[in-house]
Amino acid sequence: MRIRTTGLSKTYDRKNKALEDLSIDLNMNGIFSIIGRNGAGKTTFVRILSTELLPTSGKGYINDADVVEQAESVRREIAVVPQEARPLPWLTPLQTVSSYLMWRGYSYREANEKGKEALRELGLEGKEGEKSRKLSGGQKRKLMVATVISSEAPVVFLDEPTTGLDYLSRKELWQLLSKMKRDRLIILTTHYLEEAEILGDQIMILDKGKLVDIGGIEDLRSKVKLPYVLKVYSENFKISEDEVQVHPVSEKETFVYGSAAKIYGLVPYLVTNKMKFTVEEASLTSIFEQYLGNEEEEKENEEKNW
Ligand SMILES: Nc1ncnc2c1ncn2[C@@H]1O[C@H](COP(=O)(O)OP(=O)(O)O)[C@@H](O)[C@H]1O
Ligand SMILES: [Mg+2]
Repeated sequence: MRIRTTGLSKTYDRKNKALEDLSIDLNMNGIFSIIGRNGAGKTTFVRILSTELLPTSGKGYINDADVVEQAESVRREIAVVPQEARPLPWLTPLQTVSSYLMWRGYSYREANEKGKEALRELGLEGKEGEKSRKLSGGQKRKLMVATVISSEAPVVFLDEPTTGLDYLSRKELWQLLSKMKRDRLIILTTHYLEEAEILGDQIMILDKGKLVDIGGIEDLRSKVKLPYVLKVYSENFKISEDEVQVHPVSEKETFVYGSAAKIYGLVPYLVTNKMKFTVEEASLTSIFEQYLGNEEEEKENEEKNW
């Protein structure tokens, strides 16, 4: 599957630049994760590429079909769960999935069979006959995902499908997505960086409508200054090194971010002093902060500059 944009831009109300000159080209199956703060342009990107919204300028393509000029053929290839989408409360889960499938061209029988299968995979089989209004928030969200996944559309857009879900429900959805990603391209926006790190085969960072970077987690990590983190569990640990960033977590716990050379250079000292420690690669959260700067720190600096 291929997703491509050239100079894609969207300006709302002639002044709000929600997307600015975005050019990307991915030829892949798996999960393409889009991260960014609120207002970064994630939903705008999803809506344009899923033919729901016209760009102000630039082009977007799904499998080489233009999302504006060839919207009809793009729509046959894609399935979408918009942000905030919820099932109709008066339909049962099975009716929800099967009516969607019939609308996509499956026969009544096929739609029912596939619908049941999808609900089983999501652990919703016991809820088949209940009205959707009786489902929990997590179950409703799973149902929306089940609906598009069951369609066998090769390109699936999920706009923040896990926002607000409890940890367990999120993990269940992650498992489903990992299983379903093999022969398709799943475009997943999220503001849980942990989720993007676990699921994203490719990760795009957007900020204020602009592309910050795009790549696999290893590519992104290789571009930041502090790709390693040393976690030291000792009250006696003190450090005065440049080129590292020290974050005291608690009295007994300190995190030190730095390059491989700097971090491993500290290890002999820790071993000699019998301090407990681990060395890990920086998480996507830390990478994201290094790319964009910690917003709190940014605000503080702004205040200092006054
Ligand atoms: N329909 C709209 N009309 C006007 N402005 C909008 C509309 N949708 C989004 N925006 C603005 O565009 C920017 C990007 O929004 P959005 O794409 O929803 O970002 P995200 O999904 O990353 O939170 C924000 O500043 C938002 O306020
Ligand atoms: Mg959004």
